[in-house]
Amino acid sequence: MLPSPGEDADKAGPVRAMFSQIAGSYDALNRLFTAGIDLLWRREAALEVLSCGPKEVLDLATGTGDLALALARLAPELEITACDFTEAMLERARHKAERAGLAVHFLQGDALALPFGENRFDAVCCAFGFRNFADFGAALSEILRVLKPQGKLVILELSPPGRSLTSLLYRAYFEQLLPVLGERLSGQAAYRYLPASVAAFPSPEALAQRMRSCGFQARYRRLSGGIAALHVGVKPEVA
Ligand SMILES: C[S@@+](CC[C@H](N)C(=O)[O-])C[C@H]1O[C@@H](n2cnc3c(N)ncnc32)[C@H](O)[C@@H]1O
Repeated sequence: MLPSPGEDADKAGPVRAMFSQIAGSYDALNRLFTAGIDLLWRREAALEVLSCGPKEVLDLATGTGDLALALARLAPELEITACDFTEAMLERARHKAERAGLAVHFLQGDALALPFGENRFDAVCCAFGFRNFADFGAALSEILRVLKPQGKLVILELSPPGRSLTSLLYRAYFEQLLPVLGERLSGQAAYRYLPASVAAFPSPEALAQRMRSCGFQARYRRLSGGIAALHVGVKPEVA
């Protein structure tokens, strides 16, 4: 059963099952479907995280660990904890870190009930994970809790496509071709969930508003003509 595309209290089980099934093909299909641009987006996100000079960072919904590993490459002295609730994705991440000789502490954990005390991290980041959470408000409150005052949240997410001519072409690729190719190559229907979940996701402005109403100072910038967005939130001194 595919997860429902939007926020839904019963989403966690189907999301975990879906990522367990596609863990083996996840990295290769990401590279293929984005022509490698996903790596450039994660690098942007990592540079945004590092611009606040953090000592301890949490990569949330780390999956196969690409953002955590990008951070470790750029800042070898950084203390990086990376958590996800799907063990099959974490297994890949640990293997990649070991092969690359990079130090990241990977652990299993739910973004809606983080296994950390309050005011712990200088920065929290999340690449392509936020859209999968059952409750965005609950996730933002948890992140706010574990961030230090003045700590930074960086969210990288795909954005709902617009209605310009280029967007229509992108839509045809993303909504029609990609799910079929994804199903053929991975043997899983999960790639039908991807465009559906992006269509159901708030626009960058709406997500920034939700971050503000949870207590963050929020801004964002669009990437690659608006098909992705980088959100930045700062926890105020007095939250
Ligand atoms: C699309 S993958 C993104 C992985 C990685 N961050 C990347 O950049 O490729 C989404 C990940 O979010 C994780 N996830 C979804 N909901 C979660 C939750 N509530 N707590 C922890 N991880 C979650 C899934 O297990 C999956 O590994």
